[in-house]
Amino acid sequence: MQKEDNLKDIISHAKEYGFVFPSSEIYDGLSATYDYGQLGVELKNNIKSYWWKSMVQMNENIVGLDSAIFMHPKTWKASGHVDAFNDPLIDNKDSKKRYRADVLLEEYIEKIRAKIDKDVNKGIKRFGDDFDKNQFLATNPNVLRNMAKIEDVEERMKDTLGKDDLEGVYNLIIDLEIVCPVSGTKNWTEVRQFNLMFSTELGSVSGDAATIYLRPETAQGIFVNFLNVQKTGRMKIPFGIAQIGKAFRNEIVARQFIFRMREFEQMEMQFFVRPGEEMKWYEHWKNQRIAWHSKLGLGEENYRFHDHIKLAHYANAAADIEFNFPMGFKELEGVHSRTDFDLKQHEEHSGKKLQFFDPEMNQNYVPYVVETSIGLDRMFLAVLSSSFKTEKLENDSERVVLSLPAALAPFKVAVMPLTKKDGHPEKAREIMNALRLEHNCAYDEKDSPGKRYRRQDAIGTPYCVMVDHQTMEDNTVTIRDRDTMEQDRVSIDELASIIESKVSMTNLLR
Ligand code: GAP
Repeated sequence: MQKEDNLKDIISHAKEYGFVFPSSEIYDGLSATYDYGQLGVELKNNIKSYWWKSMVQMNENIVGLDSAIFMHPKTWKASGHVDAFNDPLIDNKDSKKRYRADVLLEEYIEKIRAKIDKDVNKGIKRFGDDFDKNQFLATNPNVLRNMAKIEDVEERMKDTLGKDDLEGVYNLIIDLEIVCPVSGTKNWTEVRQFNLMFSTELGSVSGDAATIYLRPETAQGIFVNFLNVQKTGRMKIPFGIAQIGKAFRNEIVARQFIFRMREFEQMEMQFFVRPGEEMKWYEHWKNQRIAWHSKLGLGEENYRFHDHIKLAHYANAAADIEFNFPMGFKELEGVHSRTDFDLKQHEEHSGKKLQFFDPEMNQNYVPYVVETSIGLDRMFLAVLSSSFKTEKLENDSERVVLSLPAALAPFKVAVMPLTKKDGHPEKAREIMNALRLEHNCAYDEKDSPGKRYRRQDAIGTPYCVMVDHQTMEDNTVTIRDRDTMEQDRVSIDELASIIESKVSMTNLLR
C-alpha cells in the first residue's frame, strides 16, 4: 500500500470509529482544525498520562504547571516571537499555492535521500547477505554524488536561512529547479517572512483594547513562572517544570491531517541547569526522550534524530526526534538547548530578576535551559499510524486491527455475553462493573461474536472477555488476545490480574 493511501485510510478509520473528526464538520470543516471523538479523547488522555507520569511522577526534581493561554503581550516581545517567529513563504504564481520555502528545500533533500535508499535496496536484493552496506555507501559513485549534493544544499540552506537572506533562499530554489507539486512550474514569487502568531484584543471598550496573542508555545508560561515555582517548591538546580496545553500557530502549510494544525497541544518540559552544564543535560534529555518512545514498542526503525540546520533564535543546539509517519520521516519532538536566552530576555523586559542562588557555588546566576517539546497530536498520529494494520487471516478473510500499545488503548477490555439470554448479560455486566474500577471497559452484546471481535480489533481493545454457558456452571470465561487472536479459558477471579499485567502503565514507567 502506498504511504499516502495509508494516510487516507487512517483518516477515514479515525473518523469512522470516533477517534478524530474534522472540526465544525456540519459547516464543511475548518482548515487544519480537528476534534477528538469519544475514543480519540481516551487515547489522547492516555498519551498525556504516560508523558506526565514519566516526567513529573518519576522525577523527583520535575514539577508540573498549568499556565494561562493568554499572557502579557510583553512576553512575546521578550521571547522574540513578535520579531522573529516567522516562516519564509513562497507562492507559485500558476497554482496560487503557498509553500514554506524551507520545507520545499527539505523535501528536495528527502528525494535525494530516497534515491540513495533505493540504490542500497537494489544492492541488498542483488547480493543478499554478501552486501556490505557501509562499503557501498563509501564507494558507490551514484551515492557519493548524491551525498555531495545533499551536503551542498544543506550548506546553502544553513547559510541563507541562518542569515534570513530571503533572496538567497529564492535563488537556491531557482538553482535547484524546484517545481510546484501542483502546477509543475517554476513560476515563483519572491520569498517573504510571515509571522505565525494569532492575535486578538483584550478588553471590551474600544480604544482601551490591547493586542494580545494566543500562545504559540507553552514554554513561555513556564519561564515567567520560573521563580514562583522555584521558591514555593523549594526547587534546587537542576530542576524541571513540565506543562501540557494548547498552542496556536497560523501555519502557512496546514495539511497532513493532525500533523500540522493551527490549534494543537504541546507537552513541554523546561529543565533549568547551571551555565556550562547545558550540553551534558542536552545529551541526557535526548537519551531519556528516545527511551520514552522506545518503550512504547512502535518500532526502533521508525525513529531517527535530525540535528537542526537552522537554529531557532533562542537555541545553541537542537535536535528533532523524527518519526516515520505515513508521509515519511518528520519531526515529532524537539530537544533544544535554549541557553539563558528566555530568562534573560524576561529579566530585561520585566525589570525583575530571574536568578537562582546556588549555595554550592555561593553565586547567583540566570540558569540555562534544556527543553523537551513534543506535539501531543503528532504523538497521537505516530501511535495511530504505526498501529493501523490490515491483516490477512488463514481463512483468506481480512481484519483491520489497531495494535495500540495496550496501556494507551481507549478500552482495555470488552466484556460480551455469548447470548442475550440465560443470565449471560447479567453475568457480563457484573464482570464489567468489577473491572471498570480499574480500567475503561466496553460492553457489547450485538451481532455475532466474530463481528464483535472485529469491532474491538478495529479500535485496539487488547482483550475481549466472553461469558458463555460454561461460565454459568464453573465461573470461567474465555479471554481473547487482540494480537494473537488466541482464546484461553480462565477463572473470573484471575481476570483482573491477567488484564492488569498487560495493560498497566507501570510496565512502561518501570
Ligand atoms: N517550545 C519549543 C517549540 O515550540 P517547536 O519545534 O516549534 O518548538 C515543538 O514545537 C513541537 O510541537 C514539535 O516538535 C511538534 O511536535 C509540535 N508542533 C509544532 N507545530 C505544530 C503544529 N502546527 N501542529 C501540530 N503540532 C505542532
